[in-house]
Amino acid sequence: MAVTLTINGQSIQATSGRSLFDHAEALGIDVPTSCRKQGKCRECMVEVVEGMHALSAIAEPERHLKGNFRLSCQACVTATEGQVRCHTMRRGHMRIEQRAFGLPIGNRDFTLDPAVARDGDRILIDGVEVERSNGPILGLAMDLGTTTVVLRLVDLETGQLIADTSFENPQRFGGSEVMSRIAYDTEHPGRLLMRTLAGYLTHAIERFPVDPKTIYEMVVVGNSTMRDLFFRQSVYSIGQNPYRSITEIEMAEGKRVTTSLSQTGQQSLLPIHPKARVYGVPIISGHVGADAAACMLAVDLAHEERLVAVMDIGTNTELIVGNKHRILAASCPAGPAFEGGAIACGMPALDGAIEEVAIAGDGSFRLRVIGDVPPEGICGSGLIDVLSELLRTGRMNDLGRFADDIERITLSDDKDKEVFLLESDVNELAQAKGANVAGLRAVFSTYGIDFDDTGVFYLAGGFGRHLNVEASKRIGLVPSIASSKIVQAGNTAIEGATIALLSKSKRQELEDLVKRVEHCRLETHPDFFEFFVEGCQFKPLEPISCAS
Ligand code: FES
Repeated sequence: MAVTLTINGQSIQATSGRSLFDHAEALGIDVPTSCRKQGKCRECMVEVVEGMHALSAIAEPERHLKGNFRLSCQACVTATEGQVRCHTMRRGHMRIEQRAFGLPIGNRDFTLDPAVARDGDRILIDGVEVERSNGPILGLAMDLGTTTVVLRLVDLETGQLIADTSFENPQRFGGSEVMSRIAYDTEHPGRLLMRTLAGYLTHAIERFPVDPKTIYEMVVVGNSTMRDLFFRQSVYSIGQNPYRSITEIEMAEGKRVTTSLSQTGQQSLLPIHPKARVYGVPIISGHVGADAAACMLAVDLAHEERLVAVMDIGTNTELIVGNKHRILAASCPAGPAFEGGAIACGMPALDGAIEEVAIAGDGSFRLRVIGDVPPEGICGSGLIDVLSELLRTGRMNDLGRFADDIERITLSDDKDKEVFLLESDVNELAQAKGANVAGLRAVFSTYGIDFDDTGVFYLAGGFGRHLNVEASKRIGLVPSIASSKIVQAGNTAIEGATIALLSKSKRQELEDLVKRVEHCRLETHPDFFEFFVEGCQFKPLEPISCAS
């Protein structure tokens, strides 16, 4: 008898008393570390998805980890038989959108005028010398998401992309959504979330094919909590009604003129030039953060005459509606269901995830699986498809009840793994959809417009990029407007961060624009609950005039 240990999909017969880290090394798996298994750097984290009981007790250096996370240098296999499955924080395997698509031509119509400039061998930031060198002048844009982190390295003199990368946010050990991260940061002194992230960022930056010391400026976008954690601000107030960032409070008190943040490379704990500037894009208000602000720059909202809607569906959905004359923004806590969270067979968009589903004439399921491997679970785009197909074929009604009183529908039944959908999963998805729809209805009604009035409707973010628009319309996640108006724009936040990195004037434009945005507080909208209840039903989201 032995324990079969599977790390990142590779299996080995485990040796009792040996650490997960040692086994990973034997498999040739690269585990992040800066302390050589001393239990000090906290970087060698793994998420254990099966067999936690087969491992040694939690050691002192791991006490900060919540949920199924362990430090691989501390956790040893102790059982004599069974299965352990775990993975390091994922890098490069996740289908993370690193690009944006279908944006207005105008958003690229700017002169390259970065804050970092060269004068002979002098390198200057806003006219102040920071280095003498004839080497390259590089900049780094970062979209710091709750779940994923995207980095884009550019040459500040040419605007050319040099490299990009993405990885799972290691701060997940402090909870999967912002409220738990806020609680974690408040309860655990020592900035553990930031320090762990800094370790991962350092490895990512050092893997770029450049000298990190030639990075002279970095632009950071992210939701209010992620951004403020990165800049080591207290995030406590973002978790308390009325949910405001410390920068927003200070601005209201007249202590600062912008919610943007700035620190040096040295203060950031990253291996970039110590005198580099790290600029945190201003947040809009409350949970409507710097990622939403960057989005506005990417879609060129400051110059847009048409009515534009931007919807970035996620655990926290961001909504922006408006044009150059008036802009409204809201943040909507929809929960992780459409990202596979809280769903029995849900998973992120990784190899093995069912991403497309169709029901054939004979009632069988036709599946498309990421990576062309046997299905292990279902990701957000697959969930939308399956709901839409069950509705279309009458196997589910618009209240989310399965026909024939069944509670479980099997999508695939491979030898080792059954992938299925429960009626209770549909209930979770209904509530997530209800929150998204309520947000949309509240923002549109506050603005005084109808869905049909929008000239363009951007679906931003990785999820919005990959969902099937017609299926989304059928279940009522996306309004029933002409498909020609819907643009699946991809990662507009990293695009906006890059524009702010390459152009001082665009950055100023963004600073000014953010101050003009009206924050629509969904929790105080009088019809929010009514909109939510209606939105929980799986039926097309008609224009407001038709729905009322
Ligand atoms: S390798 Fe540094 S804590 Fe495990």
